[in-house]
Parts: sequence; C-alpha cells; structure tokens
Amino acid sequence: MVVFSVKPLFSVLLVTLSLVVVLVFLSPPSPFSANWVSSYFPIGKQDIWSVRRVVEWRPCSWWLNGHLTALPSENNGYIRVDCYGGLNQMRRDFCDGVGIARLLNATLVLPKFEVASYWNESSGFADVYDVDYFIQQMNGFVKVVRELPAEIALKEPFRVDCSKRKGQFDYIESVLPSLLEHYYISITPSMSQRRDRYPLYAKSALCQACYSALRLTRSLERKASELLEAIPKPFLSLHLRFEPDMVAYSQCQYSGLSPTSMKAIEAARGDRQPWTGELAKVWRKRGKCPLTPNETAFILQSLDIPSDTNIYLAAGDGLMEIEGLTSIYTNVFTKSSLLNGEDFTSLHGNTKAALDYYVSINSDSYIATYFGNMDKMVAAMRAFKGLCKTLFLSRRAFSELTSHGLSEKELIQGLWKAHTDDFVMGRGSALPDCFCEFKL
Ligand SMILES: *[C@@H]1O[C@H](CO)[C@@H](O)[C@H](O)[C@H]1NC(C)=O
Ligand SMILES: *[C@@H]1O[C@H](CO)[C@@H](O)[C@H](O)[C@H]1NC(C)=O
Ligand SMILES: *[C@@H]1O[C@H](CO)[C@@H](O)[C@H](O)[C@H]1NC(C)=O
Repeated sequence: MVVFSVKPLFSVLLVTLSLVVVLVFLSPPSPFSANWVSSYFPIGKQDIWSVRRVVEWRPCSWWLNGHLTALPSENNGYIRVDCYGGLNQMRRDFCDGVGIARLLNATLVLPKFEVASYWNESSGFADVYDVDYFIQQMNGFVKVVRELPAEIALKEPFRVDCSKRKGQFDYIESVLPSLLEHYYISITPSMSQRRDRYPLYAKSALCQACYSALRLTRSLERKASELLEAIPKPFLSLHLRFEPDMVAYSQCQYSGLSPTSMKAIEAARGDRQPWTGELAKVWRKRGKCPLTPNETAFILQSLDIPSDTNIYLAAGDGLMEIEGLTSIYTNVFTKSSLLNGEDFTSLHGNTKAALDYYVSINSDSYIATYFGNMDKMVAAMRAFKGLCKTLFLSRRAFSELTSHGLSEKELIQGLWKAHTDDFVMGRGSALPDCFCEFKL
C-alpha cells in the first residue's frame, strides 16, 4: 500500500473498501498457498498483462461532461503559478494552480517555470508546452491570458506562500483575502489541500488542464515522435530510477556496487547519511529503497516478461549499474542510442524529461520502479488514453519477500502474486483526483 500513503483519506477508503469487496469475493482458501491469482485466472505461461483485471480507472464523467458552470463575469484578480523542481513536479503544481485559480474565480496568467539548478538550463513553460493550444483547451474552464492588463502589467505579483503550510490548506480561507487585496498574486500550490472539497467546476479545470490541455510544443513533439518511431515495436517503457540523487536521498545502502557508482552516490549524499544496522533493515523492509537494475530484471522475469522484450529506458543519463538489467534483457534502447549525437547533446533536462514522458504515454506498456511525479503523471495519462498495461514495481513486496530467505521459486511466486494483485485492482495506475474507478 506504499503507493497510497500520500493520497487523500477518501481515496484510501475507497480503494480499501473495494479491495475488501474483491478479496471477499475471491477469497482464497489459504492466502499464501502459492499462486492463488493464477488459479482464479487460468493463464498458462503468459505474462502479467494477460491476467484479467477487475478494476480500471477512467476519467470521471463530471469532468468529461465539461464546464457546466458558467464562468463569473467579474474576476477576483490574477494568479500566476510559480513552479519548481523537475518537469513533472512543475506540471503537477501547475495543474493544481489552475484548479485553485478557478476556485478563487481568478484569471490565470501563464505560469513561471523556475529552472531548478540541477536542470542547468532555461526551459520555461512556453519552451515545453504549446501555449495557444492550452489557452484554447481551457476555454470555459478558467480564463487564461497571455498578456497582463495594462494596470498590472508592470507590477510584480504579490507572493502568497502556501508551499510550506502544514495540515489541510483551504485556499478560500487563506489565499482569497490576499487576492482581493493585491489583485495580482503568485502562488506555489501546497501539497496538502482539500481538493475533495473543491466544487466540481474547479476540479474539472484542474483535470482539463492536466490531461487535455498540455501538449508539447510542435518542435518538441516532432522530436519526440521521431524518437518513438525509432523504437522497435511493441515495446515496454521502463522508468528505472537507480540514480545517484535518488539513492542518496533514500538513505539506503547497497552492497556490491561498482566503485564508480559508490563515488557518484557519495557525491550526491550531502548531509543525508545512510541508515546502518538494524534501522537499515527496517527501512528497507518498509520499501524505502530504490530497486537496482539487477533487482528490477529479477522482478520482470518473475512477471514472465520475456527477456527479448524491447525495452525503452525512460531514465536520466545518470543511471547506475545498468548491466544488471541489460545482461538479462538484451533489447534495451536509450535516447542516446536512438537520437543522433547532435540532437542528443542539444537536449536539456526538461526536454529529455518531456521526451521520456511522450514515449511513455505512447508505449505498449509502462513499468516504473518508483512512484514519483513522472510515474503518476504518465500512469494517469495512460489511463486517460485507455492504455492499461501500467504497473509499479513494489519495493516493499520485494524487500519483504527477500528478507524471508525464500527459495528462488517461492520468491518468484510471491512477486507474481503481489504484482498481479496490484494489476488486477488497477492499484496506483491513476490519480484519484480526476479518475474514477470502474468495475470491469
Ligand atoms: C466563484 O464563482 C462561482 C460561480 O461561478 C460562485 O458560485 C462562487 O461563489 C465564486 N467564488 C468565489 C470565491 O468568488
Ligand atoms: C551548466 O552548463 C554550463 C554550460 O553549458 C556548463 O559549463 C556547466 O558545467 C554546467 N553545470 C552543471 C552543474 O552541469
Ligand atoms: C544480480 O544479483 C545477484 C545477487 O547478488 C547475483 O547472483 C546475480 O548474478 C546478479 N545478476 C546480474 C545480472 O548482475
């Protein structure tokens, strides 16, 4: 359930409830007697995608039915959303900001995409997303302007800080007064807010912005579709996140890494020292440690994903210990192997992230080893497009099972069971804000 730890209580309840229903319905004679999923879904020797699903996430009807509430004739002011971090984190915050602007009956100004130091580049919003298309798609959901009206055009917006607020943040209570006072404000949405309390017109604006209105710029989309063309079909897009920053951040320790990897991790550590001894074991068992390429390959094999599968690596350039995967899965493709050298060196961090995103929402299947912003965004977009072969590998199941000293066969069966259960229930494969569960 790692996947749901940050979700609003409501969706956790919903999922838990439906899980209980399905578990009762399917109630295995003895839960850990090997492979009960496959005994209920006779599949022979097929891969995980052949298992029959019970639940699927689809866009909620209140959103697809459109903007049923007319926009107010007078606005309460102008809002600029300031976004920080990686591309998908900025996108997430921007989508939130669109919902907030509608909630507060504000007009939206184009967002500021802050260029985080580690991107080392200058891809702003308009460098990544098609602005005209965005404005056109948001018509009726929220008012968006490209240019500020003359009376505020020369002003800097008043910054309302909501990013560090704790608890359940209510924008009408906390931000509307500043908007009314200053008329032009900038915000970075807070993680903890009561989206469940939004009126549906504000939620629809958020959903429309995130999943229907953001399209890559023409030139970026051309490059992305060239990349997509170059990948042999069918293919799996694999988001492997065994990178120095991630490993350092996780505070996990690994044995058997190469000196190069160790050095890269040390350099990224900062003051986050790894856990040691008993604490390290507990931490790992809670599913906190990124899967290595080697572990990933093992799980993919447990899911009967053939070793000749075409795999596109949706990952940054800093991926470590990749031989752990490529020694088993031999048809692995990367951006650097598919794009010509000139193209590749001209790409920036945000642009590379945009390419990975594009390929991943158009791949036959998508597997992530982590549940980060990109994974959530890709999973939801895939659900939007009706692509269901989406899966998050369970670090927790892996560490729990391996800590039990199981034989290889038992380990494989355990991994199969844990992941097919997730797949059957569509667990994690869309964000609950805009998607509703649909029983198959
Ligand atoms: C925003 O406008 C809607 C009508 O579209 C109205 O019901 C709501 O009270 C307004 N909210 C604010 C905060 O002005
Ligand atoms: C950022 O880019 C500049 C110029 O492209 C380069 O010289 C510099 O080393 C880069 N910095 C980092 C931290 O990658
Ligand atoms: C993966 O790790 C296991 C355990 O350390 C080892 O036995 C195996 O050879 C490794 N596989 C690859 C492909 O590196």
